[in-house]
Amino acid sequence: MICVDSQTMTNTAVPTPSKIGPSLSLVDVAPLASLGQPRLEIRGGRPLAGEIRVSGAKNSALVLMAACLLTRDTLRLRNVPPLTDITGMGEILGALGVAVTRSGDSIELNGDHISKAAPPYELVNSLRASFFCIGPLVARMGMAQVPLPGGCQIGSRPVVEHVKGLKALGAQVTIEHGVVTAVVPGRSHRLTGGHIHLDCPSVGATETLMMAATLADGETTIDNAAQEPEVIDLARLLIAMGAKIRGAGSPTITIVGVERLHGADYAVIPDRIEAGTFLLAAAITRSVLRVAPVVPEHLGAVLTKLEEAGCRIEHDGLGVVIDAQRISAVDLRTQPFPGFPTDLQAPFMSLLATAEGTSMIVENIFENRLQHVAELQRMGASIRMQGNTAIIEGVACLSGAPVHGTDLRASAAMVLAGLAAEGTTTVRGLEFLDRGYADLEGKLNSVGAEIRRLHDEPTSLPLAA
Ligand code: EPZ
Repeated sequence: MICVDSQTMTNTAVPTPSKIGPSLSLVDVAPLASLGQPRLEIRGGRPLAGEIRVSGAKNSALVLMAACLLTRDTLRLRNVPPLTDITGMGEILGALGVAVTRSGDSIELNGDHISKAAPPYELVNSLRASFFCIGPLVARMGMAQVPLPGGCQIGSRPVVEHVKGLKALGAQVTIEHGVVTAVVPGRSHRLTGGHIHLDCPSVGATETLMMAATLADGETTIDNAAQEPEVIDLARLLIAMGAKIRGAGSPTITIVGVERLHGADYAVIPDRIEAGTFLLAAAITRSVLRVAPVVPEHLGAVLTKLEEAGCRIEHDGLGVVIDAQRISAVDLRTQPFPGFPTDLQAPFMSLLATAEGTSMIVENIFENRLQHVAELQRMGASIRMQGNTAIIEGVACLSGAPVHGTDLRASAAMVLAGLAAEGTTTVRGLEFLDRGYADLEGKLNSVGAEIRRLHDEPTSLPLAA
């Protein structure tokens, strides 16, 4: 699902090999350079049993944190996951003058004294979610300057819809030298409600524009809005802060602007992607496992696919019990919610690599989200690629190998493959994994896995000849 035409900006940061010596290029030494990084060592073939706990949703908590910029009061969020992305967002908000206090799984944010409307580049560049600041800042301050979020491993990640929507609300938006500047002209510095039609149901654009519209003069409608549970969670928080919002979770959201918003005390929804990852851990090890808390309607497409693949799924009010004995091939296509989520495409592919029969996976959301195929092939998976389609012929058993997680969910997919593989699998790329999973190895070990987090001694790179 790419709604960016060739004329619009793309900001793919594609690493190009640079010579670091007469005989070595960056690409040559990258694997060596990773030797100094932590790794997970996974002994495969162990069944799982018991109950595994799901943390709060990363992709909700990050945008809920940005909502603190809309009010001078304190915003208290509970069930916030302890992730590096959350820490990074706290640092960015702190750099803007927000008072950030973390206590256990709660975080208090007070934006009474925002000192500036421009988060620092070096922080923004490491965390795309920092772009969530632009909507609240321009709505509250009348201006915002936020560096263009970079592309990443899975795609160019444009913000065309975010920019178009802010312009529809009366902001003047320019992009120069990689920085997006949004200014509300006129004395009031207040945005003006308007009609926005998104060319694609972008989650980030829907959330950004919903936040901006809460303080605009008049009514805003967002058509072709994203319907993800995280959008609904944000709408519920904003309503708790005094916003007037209808239709979140449907393709059309209506927001009537108010003079100001007040603080709130709000609990983040459970992480549906982490929950799905744990269900897939049970499936790939042919185990019985309880995963809780889970909101079943947040995972409808995933639960249906798991049942289609032969798993027995039971909801017991707070959680889900999965019983996986035999796994058959299924086909899946990633779609915007309520379709199958792109964030579980890679983990589900690990499962299908061990299924009976031949499956097909089509990645429709991101243009480069099949890099884990090569890593699964290193473990003996039989997968053929045709553009954004992977044809997976299940094998009786994967074999443990050293592999690299190329993005957040690909890293999780490699861990799952390691749980099922014969022998030992070493997974690197934990800087991605730790962004989205809090203590993944600890949680899996608590239900029978055997995973160790090891730290190599940093190696000195061979000097160029
Ligand atoms: C959110 O990213 C999630 N991140 C992603 O989770 C998730 O994969 C994605 O939604 C889709 O569900 C957070 O919530 C922090 P989009 P976002 O804008 O908002 C195209 C993870 O692993 N597009 O819905 O950036 C875009 O290129 C992460 O936890 C345009 O073409 O996703 C992509 O192909 C990864 N133009 C598709 O839409 C635009 O202006 C979906 O993007 C905006 C987006």
